[in-house]
Amino acid sequence: MTSEKLIQILKANPFVLAPMAGITDSPFRSFMREQGAGIVISELVSSHGIEYSSGRTFDLMHFDEDQRPIGIQLFGEDSEIMARAASCVEERGADFVDINLGCPVPKVVKKGAGSALLRDPGFLRKYLETIKRAIRIPLTIKIRTGWDAQCINADDVVRAAHDAGVSWVAIHGRTRAQGYSGLADWDYIAQVKAKSPLPIIGNGDIHTSHKAVERLKTSGCDGVMIGRGCLKNPWIFKEAHLLLANDHAILEDVRPAARFQASLPRFRELLSRRADERYSQLQLRKFSAWFASGYPYSREFKTKLFKTEGADNILNEALGYFERVSAYVQADTSQEAFLMGGHG
Ligand SMILES: Cc1cc2nc3c(=O)[nH]c(=O)nc-3n(C[C@H](O)[C@H](O)[C@H](O)COP(=O)(O)O)c2cc1C
Repeated sequence: MTSEKLIQILKANPFVLAPMAGITDSPFRSFMREQGAGIVISELVSSHGIEYSSGRTFDLMHFDEDQRPIGIQLFGEDSEIMARAASCVEERGADFVDINLGCPVPKVVKKGAGSALLRDPGFLRKYLETIKRAIRIPLTIKIRTGWDAQCINADDVVRAAHDAGVSWVAIHGRTRAQGYSGLADWDYIAQVKAKSPLPIIGNGDIHTSHKAVERLKTSGCDGVMIGRGCLKNPWIFKEAHLLLANDHAILEDVRPAARFQASLPRFRELLSRRADERYSQLQLRKFSAWFASGYPYSREFKTKLFKTEGADNILNEALGYFERVSAYVQADTSQEAFLMGGHG
């Protein structure tokens, strides 16, 4: 995959699935591609894990062909180890390498990885150059707006990335210090985009398809990245396409039962392609509980889910629940705290 081709794909479908540890695994990425995400990225993978040939790390790098274009996200403080890890990603046939420069987690930051690398754009440029030299596939980065309110420097980081040969910058509109509190600063993202020599993907708090299209248009970004939004509404990507094609598109008033009858068994199938029963069970429980957000009796449903054993039983429980609430339209729960921690 060339950089030009990757950007062309982004322009054709600007709705990108955000990397999320424990969530955007191989089955979920396939599921979201089928549901309209244009580009998908793995959860973060440790460059040290690759260096030590850890089986669990290689497992995280697995992807299926139907996910292309697929980026594998790496993190680590040492540019030489990162360069070797990036080369391993290329050998495994991924379409691009993404670097995590947004992780706020103390364990990662203390070692100088994740968002810690944002503090010195001069050093960052050399770090990225070293990684870029090791691969022919595109290199992309995902950052935060800065380290804290005193150091909001995404524009400097974008310039450093440009000089190092990076293909795009995805910006989560919060500083490292903010964690997941407050709101993503889309005005700042738009300002950075206006001056950027590189394509910019905006990210943060896109909970609905209307918001996805509005953010894309008003920020001027080349794409938007959606994370938590697709965990409540897995059709957010498809809906956003419809709205982008026609401002006044009337989104199909599909009741949850109809949509879930079609897609939950498919998700279960994608899980069983690779995961064992235990893992399938865990994921089906987790995702069904998130998908129930904003529907009535969801608390009762979640309690029941966590008492149900066996992936097929969980699937049936979920299908029964969505049938039961099929007369309802999902309520807006975007103001409620939801997954307020993660690696980017
Ligand atoms: C549970 C969870 C795990 C995450 N893991 C990663 C990760 O591995 N790499 C990364 O760059 N960002 C990670 N993030 C951050 C998201 O990619 C995204 O930047 C953030 O959630 C804001 O976007 P959203 O409001 O659309 O969710 C994670 C977020 C969450 C909630």
